[in-house]
Amino acid sequence: MAGSLMEVLLVFGLALLCSGASGVPTQVSYDSNAFIINGERRVLFSGAIHYPRSTPGMWPDLIRKAKEGGLDMIETYIFWDRHEPKRGEFDFSGNLDFINFFKTVQEAGLYVFVRIGPYACAEWNYGGFPVWLHNLPGIKLRTDNEVYKNEMQKFVTKIVNMCKEAKLFGPQGGPIILAQIENEYGNVMGPYGEAGKSYIKWCAELAVSLNVGVPWVMCKQADAPEPMINTCNGFYCNTFKPNNPKNPKMLTENWVGWFVRWGGRKPHRPAEDLALSVALFFQSGGIFMNYYMYHGGTNFGRTAGGPYIATSYEYDAPLDEYGNLNQPKWGHLKQLHAAIKSVEKILTNSTSTTKEFGNANLTTYTNAATGERVCFLSNLNTTQDAHIDLQKDGKYFVPAWSVSILEGCNKEIYNSAKISTQETVMVKKPDGAENRLAKLSWQWTAEPLEDRLDGRGDFTEPKLLEQTATTLDASDYLWYMTSVNITDRAWTNAILRVNTTGHVLHAYVNGKLVGYKWADVGGIFNFTFEKNVTLNPGINRITLLSAAVGLKACINYGAFYDTNTTGIVGGPVELVGKENATIDLSSNLWSYKVGLNGEAMELYNVKQPNNTRWTSERLPVSRPMTWYKATFKAPSGTEPVVVDMQGMGKGHAWVSFQTVTVGSTCGNTYEGNTLELSCQGGKTISEIQFASFGDPQGTCGSFKKGSCEAANALFVIQKACIGKEACKINVTEAAFGSSDCSNNVIKRLAVQAVC
Ligand SMILES: *[C@@H]1O[C@H](CO)[C@@H](O)[C@H](O)[C@H]1NC(C)=O
Ligand SMILES: *[C@@H]1O[C@H](CO)[C@@H](O)[C@H](O)[C@H]1NC(C)=O
Ligand SMILES: *[C@@H]1O[C@H](CO)[C@@H](O)[C@H](O)[C@H]1NC(C)=O
Ligand SMILES: *[C@@H]1O[C@H](CO)[C@@H](O)[C@H](O)[C@H]1NC(C)=O
Ligand SMILES: *[C@@H]1O[C@H](CO)[C@@H](O)[C@H](O)[C@H]1NC(C)=O
Ligand SMILES: *[C@@H]1O[C@H](CO)[C@@H](O)[C@H](O)[C@H]1NC(C)=O
Ligand SMILES: *[C@@H]1O[C@H](CO)[C@@H](O)[C@H](O)[C@H]1NC(C)=O
Ligand SMILES: *[C@@H]1O[C@H](CO)[C@@H](O)[C@H](O)[C@H]1NC(C)=O
Ligand SMILES: *[C@@H]1O[C@H](CO)[C@@H](O)[C@H](O)[C@H]1NC(C)=O
Ligand SMILES: *[C@@H]1O[C@H](CO)[C@@H](O)[C@H](O)[C@H]1NC(C)=O
Ligand SMILES: *[C@@H]1O[C@H](CO)[C@@H](O)[C@H](O)[C@H]1NC(C)=O
Repeated sequence: MAGSLMEVLLVFGLALLCSGASGVPTQVSYDSNAFIINGERRVLFSGAIHYPRSTPGMWPDLIRKAKEGGLDMIETYIFWDRHEPKRGEFDFSGNLDFINFFKTVQEAGLYVFVRIGPYACAEWNYGGFPVWLHNLPGIKLRTDNEVYKNEMQKFVTKIVNMCKEAKLFGPQGGPIILAQIENEYGNVMGPYGEAGKSYIKWCAELAVSLNVGVPWVMCKQADAPEPMINTCNGFYCNTFKPNNPKNPKMLTENWVGWFVRWGGRKPHRPAEDLALSVALFFQSGGIFMNYYMYHGGTNFGRTAGGPYIATSYEYDAPLDEYGNLNQPKWGHLKQLHAAIKSVEKILTNSTSTTKEFGNANLTTYTNAATGERVCFLSNLNTTQDAHIDLQKDGKYFVPAWSVSILEGCNKEIYNSAKISTQETVMVKKPDGAENRLAKLSWQWTAEPLEDRLDGRGDFTEPKLLEQTATTLDASDYLWYMTSVNITDRAWTNAILRVNTTGHVLHAYVNGKLVGYKWADVGGIFNFTFEKNVTLNPGINRITLLSAAVGLKACINYGAFYDTNTTGIVGGPVELVGKENATIDLSSNLWSYKVGLNGEAMELYNVKQPNNTRWTSERLPVSRPMTWYKATFKAPSGTEPVVVDMQGMGKGHAWVSFQTVTVGSTCGNTYEGNTLELSCQGGKTISEIQFASFGDPQGTCGSFKKGSCEAANALFVIQKACIGKEACKINVTEAAFGSSDCSNNVIKRLAVQAVC
């Protein structure tokens, strides 16, 4: 017994070495029972960590915790909209540097599963497609359309080539051993008809032609053409069957929790239930498990999909938004991974039988030659616990809705409902002893609105435009402005009625806010705004602000999701008077402006103070269209820093941390000692801003001459220090000359220099 355990551990250790940063080629193949990596039969645990949802500084720690949690592999989508924000202009910097991310995974000794898509869904803005794509003439997304296929092929090829150049595919000695093309197309392809079917064939041909040397999967694609492996996404996939009995049974997205919407509850999936679904999957012949998400992280900037998907993408994942262990989930899964790994050799090289046994199902894996066995006992009754007597193999208590794993079929090594991991609760607390954050002093300024309220836009159209196509997603905000000439006094009291496809509307009449409204969460995000307004005889100005809260990503997995509209497109915008008479303003001449003035002025940019007057007087509460700012010191230490926007409405928050480098350097040395000045990082002293030998006053940054001093100090210091990285000077009268100080003054030298 001890001997075989040793062997398993040894093999596991070797496998880790092989996948490390060694650059040794990794050959990957598979059959229905195993992934075969350099000849070794494996089951694989993988976890999703989307590189743009954390910072590069967090990556090594997240990946280390994933490895410690028993994962073999990290999975991520590639986010086209971030990488090609404008057609032909690419960005792979900072947290978009997926090559660096993959190398970090490799350094930790883990594999990579890259899901190139390029459609991601992922609760990501517009599902990961750049908005310019939608606007290309003649394009139809995700179907057999030449314009689209051409763009997709260019992008996918570019990503693959980048990985090849960095030698990141397994056969090249890199960590990538699995790839995905398209994403959950199977459940939306119906409405695309024959074009959808031929598109999927084309996707498969494209993938094969890229010659990456690792297997490709298509998730939720029952008709995936060979050699594409069809995989399951869901909470439970035990009943799933692959498209080909020769293919492995894979779960590419086990939803460990769920995302949260603005105003929605924080979803929770108990660790016991997640563990049950994993154990049940392996009981039913599964060999690959990917957690969606292992670390959900944060939707930075305007990346959250929509409508109404929140900034936090924590997902109740094993690692919380900030990278802390979410216990007991992380630890309970870690023990499960260890249990399954300990019987990996049997699972991947044996035949299994399942039979009902008492109140449970008993699955037995047996290696034909050695007779080695492993059993799973599952009880899917949600209320009734099971007591199972396996005679000479022992008695087992299998709680309701749980699975036990029996080593040798006679020893329980894991049960999904029996948690032996500690539970931790993370608390957010205001910063530090001095509680600096709690004492933030806020300033505010109003969004400049005059031009909008006057109806002055950048261009006009005699109709109501679609928002995304107009803003190209450069801003969440689009202004619609028009005027109406009231000639009949009967119309001085009317209802302003606006039908909009969302997501938030502010309405102004003659420069005054008359009201605002937002779409309810769920369903179609269209709504009708209605408000009684007072109009003047003659010209009246109507200004409507439409705000988007994330572009549709994958509502109900909808086919043609990209064709769904946002904003007041088509309206109608009407005035409703007595007896429901209406004046339809929809085909008026409308003036348009994209974005807020404050966005254009970069009011958030600390480096570019504009002429804006900020004030801390009468700090407004619940006042629409207001900018607020406060500065704070980044708290010390290495704990994550969280901006808690409690009490705020719809808006954006810019947070900027400044790093501190040596700007000025000062010295303050009494007579008889030695003054030392030095710069850092190879810089030299360029200027002496202050030097006085006598009784100088003040501190670094605000030195002043005192009542007396020697005449030569500045000149002497300049001569000794300028152009040098460091300088030393004995502080004596001999060096600086005599001073006019009286004898009872204890003389010192104060110097301020610039590096
Ligand atoms: C699989 O099991 C058979 C016996 O059933 C054995 O001969 C063979 O070596 C095993 N293969 C691996 C890769 O462990
Ligand atoms: C046994 O397996 C069958 C088929 O998967 C399932 O319907 C049944 O609920 C299981 N019974 C128990 C007690 O888990
Ligand atoms: C669970 O067990 C109880 C008691 O034996 C039984 O009444 C019930 O039908 C079972 N539920 C399911 C879903 O099998
Ligand atoms: C408003 O309409 C009236 C009646 O048609 C017209 O006399 C007046 O000039 C119009 N006002 C403007 C500003 O167009
Ligand atoms: C709103 O205006 C309509 C039509 O002008 C009128 O019938 C109704 O009483 C008004 N409602 C309120 C609350 O003023
Ligand atoms: C506009 O909204 C009203 C009220 O909800 C509704 O009755 C009407 O059908 C809508 N018009 C269109 C074109 O959707
Ligand atoms: C929303 O749109 C649907 C379908 O176009 C329409 O039937 C419904 O009336 C609209 N609802 C509102 C509140 O405008
Ligand atoms: C999106 O657009 C499609 C096609 O235009 C339509 O069938 C569907 O109802 C729309 N869905 C939503 C959520 O607006
Ligand atoms: C005006 O329309 C509303 C609903 O849109 C209806 O309840 C009301 O009866 C109508 N009034 C008249 C006078 O037609
Ligand atoms: C201030 O804002 C105006 C736009 O209103 C812009 O043209 C100008 O460049 C801004 N100045 C700075 C320093 O950002
Ligand atoms: C400073 O004084 C020490 C002795 O006190 C002497 O060894 C050293 O050479 C002096 N340095 C300079 C730069 O004059």
